[in-house]
Amino acid sequence: ASDMLVDSFGRLHTYLRISLTERCNLRCQYCMPANGVELTPNPSLLSNNEIIRLADLFVRSGVDKIRLTGGEPTIRRDIEDICLQLSNLKGLKTLAITTNGITLAKKLPKLKQCGLNALNISLDTLVPAKFEFMTRRKGHERVLESINAAADLGYNPVKVNCVVMRGFNDDEICDFVELTREKPINVRFIEFMPFDGNVWNVKKLVPYSEMLDRVVKQFNNLNRLRDHPTDTAKNFKIDGFVGTVSFITSMTEHFCAGCNRLRLLADGNLKVCLFGPSEVSLRDPIRSGVDDLGLTEIIGAAVKRKKVAHAGMFDIAKTTNRPMIHIGG
Ligand code: GTP
Ligand code: 5AD
Ligand code: SF4
Repeated sequence: ASDMLVDSFGRLHTYLRISLTERCNLRCQYCMPANGVELTPNPSLLSNNEIIRLADLFVRSGVDKIRLTGGEPTIRRDIEDICLQLSNLKGLKTLAITTNGITLAKKLPKLKQCGLNALNISLDTLVPAKFEFMTRRKGHERVLESINAAADLGYNPVKVNCVVMRGFNDDEICDFVELTREKPINVRFIEFMPFDGNVWNVKKLVPYSEMLDRVVKQFNNLNRLRDHPTDTAKNFKIDGFVGTVSFITSMTEHFCAGCNRLRLLADGNLKVCLFGPSEVSLRDPIRSGVDDLGLTEIIGAAVKRKKVAHAGMFDIAKTTNRPMIHIGG
């Protein structure tokens, strides 16, 4: 891997998250500000060719995993073509997507043919009325269909992302764990994080320790699995269950020491950390004709500016950032 991907703390960034769009077919309260967001005008978004050019450079430099995010990545019209071209990059091992699952069941067979080999689906409640409240849209049934379709197509595990918020879905944790009994589902409970416009409040945060406590009280034989050092999740399995249960503890036990993630936003900005304002445009130099060497220097310098960790649970909420819908998680 090239020096471009190594930060000043020695962390090697082999995982690139690419946001394909700022648009979404849901309006989740913890992601999309109540008044919506300003959308980057279409000509200022990365084109298919620009995305592939950048991804190619990242993969040649040592990235072996790309995740497509958004907004909702599946609403981008050229997603199949993008998947096909990305999966053909030599050296890429994982082509993943994080999606809300609304239109996935229909699109998945084709996406799988185009090389999509890992799948994370967001679902925060098993109660349809609560889904409509949180997402401000209908579609609960379709998300469940997509989860099943993914398992039927052989995705293993099918990761289900559940953002836990006190007073909203913290009473459903054990119901979510039940999903792992018979199916190769990895349920991942995520601590609620602050982003611009999502009215984060520490009281709504359910700490990892408390979530774990609830699961332990209900289920015997919850075993900790060995995590990969770059994993965002702490992983567990209940004896006899097919699937697994994980916790993403961004707030109470951050995992920045093992961070291997960079983000390319839909407007062409490279964001070196999920939190904080540090971004640099890759689109502008591309459009002024920069060569790969020039790009490598710009990316390398940005990576070297990455901080050792995020600002900490309480200070994150005070730092400037973007709304989550622009970042893609
Ligand atoms: P896998 O590659 O399957 O492990 O997924 P992932 O956790 O990398 O990505 P996903 O899109 O499923 O995100 C799950 C949750 O982890 C979301 O709430 C993300 O915002 C959060 N997350 C992902 N990457 C990072 C990160 O680098 N730092 C922090 N703090 N949270 C992250
Ligand atoms: N806190 C934690 N996770 C979030 N996600 C979106 N907004 C937040 C938030 N405020 C999750 C989505 C998706 C993933 C990319 O990030 O549910 O699964
Ligand atoms: Fe990496 Fe920043 Fe996430 Fe920490 S908060 S794990 S440094 S992206």
